[in-house]
Amino acid sequence: MLEKIIETTEFLKARGIINPDAGIILGTGLGELTTKINSQIEIDYKDIPNFPLSTVEGHAGKLIFGEFGKKKIVAMKGRFHYYEGYGREQIALPIRVLKYLGIKCLFLSNAAGGVNPLFQIGDIMIITDHINLLPNPLIGPNDDRIGARFPDMGEAYDKYLISKALIIAEENNIRIHKGIYLSTSGPTFETPAEYKYFRIIGADAVGMSTTPEVIIARHMNMPCFAISVITDLGVEGKIEYTTHESVQYEAAKTESRMTTIMTEMIASL
Ligand code: HPA
Repeated sequence: MLEKIIETTEFLKARGIINPDAGIILGTGLGELTTKINSQIEIDYKDIPNFPLSTVEGHAGKLIFGEFGKKKIVAMKGRFHYYEGYGREQIALPIRVLKYLGIKCLFLSNAAGGVNPLFQIGDIMIITDHINLLPNPLIGPNDDRIGARFPDMGEAYDKYLISKALIIAEENNIRIHKGIYLSTSGPTFETPAEYKYFRIIGADAVGMSTTPEVIIARHMNMPCFAISVITDLGVEGKIEYTTHESVQYEAAKTESRMTTIMTEMIASL
């Protein structure tokens, strides 16, 4: 694994991705932030050695590097999900490469179903903790050069970054929640009984991504900050027919508020 990580990292450095301050992974319908990256270097995943290919519509499948305010960021526009059939190592590799490229923190966004009855479509939730119901991406032999066999998950989402985001949201008059994100494999959206179950076991929002990436990042002691955009509700009496298109449509409507928070977060690093 480490050899592949180094090979991919060297390839990207040779293509000009040098000393990024932060990495960002953008969820379904939330890729607009990349248009604000200046002097861009754009590389299709298909041209990057050892990278899997993104198969989902709304996930472009590109690595984008450049200046973002006074910082340099590398963005993954398009991510890899278990429901696409990828294995643990394929999901892990891009995140490890970001770390080896030198990022200091990882920012993530996703589209999610709200199971907290106080949530509305279009709300933004700062993830404070997660319940990972996906296969743990660290199952298998551990490479101690990358991280510990048994990583602690007591602070998967960085408390300092969360407190900063709350201030930014308030300053910008953005309605915000804090909550627990639960990941499930998909690709089906939940049945009403499943939404109810996820609420009972402690979730505020449900989605199909993010937790594997955060686990891989935390294995390397990388601080993480993540936001869910609530695109549908899994609350009894409020459940509507959900499609990938409806998720993309609702995510796009909330995107500018999410982008404001992420932009100011990165600026303040
Ligand atoms: N469930 C799972 N994943 C999702 C949802 C949902 O309701 N909405 C967006 N991604």
